Amino acid sequence: MGNQLHVRQFRYATDNLGYLVYGDRAGMAIDGGAVSDILDFAAAGKIKIRYVVNTHMHPDHTMGSRSLARHAGAEHIDNASLRSQAQVELDGVDIQVHHTPGHTRDSLVFHWAGYLITGDTLFNGTVGNCFTGDLKAFYESISHLLSFPDETIIYAGHDYVVDAMRFARSIEPENADIGRYLEKYDPRHVFSSLADEKKVNPYLRFNTAELVAVLKKRGLATDTAYQRWNSLMKIG
Ligand SMILES: [Fe+2]
Repeated sequence: MGNQLHVRQFRYATDNLGYLVYGDRAGMAIDGGAVSDILDFAAAGKIKIRYVVNTHMHPDHTMGSRSLARHAGAEHIDNASLRSQAQVELDGVDIQVHHTPGHTRDSLVFHWAGYLITGDTLFNGTVGNCFTGDLKAFYESISHLLSFPDETIIYAGHDYVVDAMRFARSIEPENADIGRYLEKYDPRHVFSSLADEKKVNPYLRFNTAELVAVLKKRGLATDTAYQRWNSLMKIG
């Protein structure tokens, strides 16, 4: 059996979330803006930070990465290299790198044994802005994330949970799962499962009867899954 990897979440700036993924000995920082917190945590746990990577190149995600890599003596792997190598090995576990364009062209998610680190592609409760304007690519990226097992834990690039649930409620006022989702929310450790997301995140619910009814009421196209996605992106 392979080793197990753990995740530690680090909040920085206003609502950014970065991560240290680590095993018994080695770690990889993803969006390492919380430089000193990450270094302190790694030192306390005798974790050698081997890699520093980014979910995408927006400055609030890349800030601190060079400094962290330098202080830790780690390799900073750029997104083009991550895409071509498609995985990163850490303490005997392969972390899979998936290209998920939409928010940006270079957006990546990191996946291994039950965990997904999603950057600004998928948030807890919502999705990222489609800054590329390529809604089709974003749809394909989100559809790909929907294909992961329901129990997959989602760790995102920002904490937008409260605003996201306010929007979700405006779309589906009758959805009782939104209240349950907010009860579980803890800003000190922000995560959800893909199953939770499928219950409340409007942008993952474009194939549900509830969302189709909402879109129809607004006179928006609902014939195909892609049309429903497009319609939903219009009202967000
Ligand atoms: Fe971003």
